[in-house]
Amino acid sequence: MPVSAHVVGWGYYLPSRRMDNETLEKQIDTTDEWIQERTGIRERRIAGPHESTATMAVEAAKAALQCSQLDPAKLDLIIVATITPDFIFPATACLVQDAIGATQAAAFDVSAGCSGFVYALALADQAIRAGSARNVLVIGADTLSRFVNWQDRSTCVLFGDGAGAIVLQASELPGGVVGTTWGCDGSGWELLYVPAGGCRQPASAETVSNGLHYLRMNGREVFRFAVGVVPRVTRALLEQLNMDVGDVDLFIPHQANARITAAVARQLGLENERVVDVIDWCGNTSAASIPIALCHAIETGRLKEGDLVVLAGFGAGLTWGAAAIVWDRVPTALPRGWLAFYYRWRYRLAAWRSRLRRQWRRFRDAISMRLHKRWREL
Ligand code: UT7
Repeated sequence: MPVSAHVVGWGYYLPSRRMDNETLEKQIDTTDEWIQERTGIRERRIAGPHESTATMAVEAAKAALQCSQLDPAKLDLIIVATITPDFIFPATACLVQDAIGATQAAAFDVSAGCSGFVYALALADQAIRAGSARNVLVIGADTLSRFVNWQDRSTCVLFGDGAGAIVLQASELPGGVVGTTWGCDGSGWELLYVPAGGCRQPASAETVSNGLHYLRMNGREVFRFAVGVVPRVTRALLEQLNMDVGDVDLFIPHQANARITAAVARQLGLENERVVDVIDWCGNTSAASIPIALCHAIETGRLKEGDLVVLAGFGAGLTWGAAAIVWDRVPTALPRGWLAFYYRWRYRLAAWRSRLRRQWRRFRDAISMRLHKRWREL
């Protein structure tokens, strides 16, 4: 029996610290009017000192797992889409795996800019269809506030921090993820990138003093690329499914700029009722923007059972991708009343387990060092 991947849980996390346009007006040469008119952004959320891509991803994951009522130990795979990982390595997904106690899951990150969530979703869908995973946690999370130059008005006004997650589950029922497509034009890598910190130009006092650890973007070119590629990739996906734009109930593009969303919607012939635009209250949250917008659409009752949802991403790389989902929910069993209590303890246990394993490794390492020293002395 062929299986397909169904969305059975979702959740998102935004840092509590808000930064509105008026605050930016006091820091750089900009105005609330310019930002709202040119981008549609009113405010964005900025990660606090104790928050990171991993901590936000964990919060989004917890919300999605509770929604799905799935035990974290039943997850087979965790994919985190991010371009702002906590470390160059290990993958942020490994930190999430540890924090939620997903003891049976493989974990890795996907770096595909703001298309990352759609790429991760496509990979998860393929893993489920191939039979190598039944339950997959897909997260988009980014902390771009740590990579923008807060003196560069052309970029710092755009980005915000956040994370969004979904749980995908194998089911013999039809529906769920019905199609995905993706692509890349690497010749555009210089349009949006961070020059230093990788192996080509490792971080040094010089790279930092020259500001090479900050994000660089050619906004106008990225704008042009987005407005061209998103309608194209959306139409290509629908064609692949023998459908057309008329079949789409809800369109969720990457939230980069309200003008991009409007231009894409215009080209596709989609009216406002069928397009999700949440950029005004969270800014461009990179790989997190599509799952956050999806969660918001669910929360505000914009998705009904049987609806066709199309997600479309574009971003650094240059990359793009689209996914079509027939919205349904395959419930899994777990008594609701106990849920919050159960998960609280599940995560507490995961933290204890993690601490114990780390301490055991330190202890084992110290003993073996001592034995090794003794042996060399003999
Ligand atoms: O997630 C994917 C990655 N990002 C994107 O998708 C972003 C895509 N690009 C964009 O959203 C837009 O290109 C921006 C919002 C970045 C810029 O808007 P624009 O309408 O393309 O502005 P522009 O770059 O053509 O600049 C127009 C003017 C310039 O002044 P001059 O040269 O005409 O005097 C800029 O210096 O606006 C100026 N400007 C600003 N003025 C006030 C640029 N940033 C600001 C600012 N406040 N924050």
